[in-house]
Amino acid sequence: MRPTQASFPATRLRRTRKSPAIRALVAENTLTAADLIWPVFVREGDNIEEPVTSMPGVVRRSVDRVVEAARDAADLGIPAICLFPYTEAQNRTADCAEAWNPDNLSNRATRAIKQAVPGIAVMTDVALDPYSDTGHDGFVVDGEIVNDATVEALVKQALAQAEAGVDIIGPSDMMDGRIGAIRSALESAGHQNVMLMSYAAKYASAFYGPFRDAVGASNALKGDKKTYQMNPANTHEALRCIERDLSEGADMVMVKPGMPYLDICRRVKDRFGAPTFAYQVSGEYAMIMAAAQNGWIDGDRAMIESLLAFKRGGCDGVLTYFAPAAAKALARGTALY
Ligand code: PBG
Repeated sequence: MRPTQASFPATRLRRTRKSPAIRALVAENTLTAADLIWPVFVREGDNIEEPVTSMPGVVRRSVDRVVEAARDAADLGIPAICLFPYTEAQNRTADCAEAWNPDNLSNRATRAIKQAVPGIAVMTDVALDPYSDTGHDGFVVDGEIVNDATVEALVKQALAQAEAGVDIIGPSDMMDGRIGAIRSALESAGHQNVMLMSYAAKYASAFYGPFRDAVGASNALKGDKKTYQMNPANTHEALRCIERDLSEGADMVMVKPGMPYLDICRRVKDRFGAPTFAYQVSGEYAMIMAAAQNGWIDGDRAMIESLLAFKRGGCDGVLTYFAPAAAKALARGTALY
């Protein structure tokens, strides 16, 4: 049956907007700390927190400080933390060998967090860009980012991360076939319970700029990533990527960036019903923070509104640099939306 046409004055849609209590009662979507995954940048050293200029409020932390951050996040009810290493120049090489070093920065941070804060899930990134002298996510041969040799390296990187104890591996490289290859290697090595969150629909985006500063990759990157990351003009291709990665063994899928791609989030959730995440990337964070710092928008309200939009768009959760700030704002409990 078609809904009957609303007729005035019997239908006054403003009645359900009348007070905070009534608005809360009829809210279709909710945002909680449990929806958030917090990406953090890790660097060498002890007792260091170093600001990332293009991401106000975000720092690179030494491992000891990352452990403290993980504890704070767990106390705020944030279920997962995602590690990104800032790699020193000597560990960026053509063979990318540091990527599968069992004692690399990311693996040391994983072990330290799992030991000290067992209650928080640890996620890591699989891609060669932090370890490559070209800044690309794969090996470069004669100017081409080669697929299959890269996948072999990604498998080694993923196995080292699983050995270190990660809960969720996030391949962000966009090579073909990597989910299947990593899934079967994990099975053979006895890591049946390690989850894969595929960066399945990852677009070649200008919004990654501040992240590349944060991990020290912006000077390294030669050229662009358009031969492996998706064209922002496409939608059906994103669904094909998601379908393929789910069939190869992904447990959860991600759309990235977030706010400019909510149409993709909605279609992915409706079509596949799989656990669906979006990454509110560095440039999205930087835009909101820059406008807030200038007094042009209310930063806290824009933060919460942007995160709620992901829930409305069908996402089960969001990777966001706002995670601790959002969790604190939600805990204060004033009506934020
Ligand atoms: C690297 C990777 C990138 C991001 C996450 N993993 C950058 C890129 O693809 O160049 C971006 C995250 C952000 O901008 O916040 N494979």
